[in-house]
Amino acid sequence: MWEYTEIVKDHLKNPRNVGKMENPSAIGEAGSLVCGDMLKLYLKIDDNGIVQDAKFQTFGCGSAIASSSILTEMIIGKSVDEVKKITNQDIVDALGGLPPAKIHCSVMGHEALEDALNNYYGVEP
Ligand code: FES
Repeated sequence: MWEYTEIVKDHLKNPRNVGKMENPSAIGEAGSLVCGDMLKLYLKIDDNGIVQDAKFQTFGCGSAIASSSILTEMIIGKSVDEVKKITNQDIVDALGGLPPAKIHCSVMGHEALEDALNNYYGVEP
């Protein structure tokens, strides 16, 4: 059995910002090669480049849900320039840590964020 922090358990029991977004400014998708799970991240970005809203949908495990949930909280209200600087380690740290075998679940969140930012800037995959 994995050992999870209270923060992970909280976001798992009560995930924030789950669901689909209508008319997002950007969409990011990522899949994990490790487990085959998927994540979709939606961003609403205003004219000043501030993330006004973020939502996610995932077929991933509990750690993916917790990572995505806390990621949305980390990026809402921030500028895209600040969001760009968020690392995978920042997500893991915000959760108070993840078991080593579950780090790839948070990597999926970070990759979906990078994909969404590329989508926002019009970079083709
Ligand atoms: Fe697939 Fe966690 S095991 S995302």
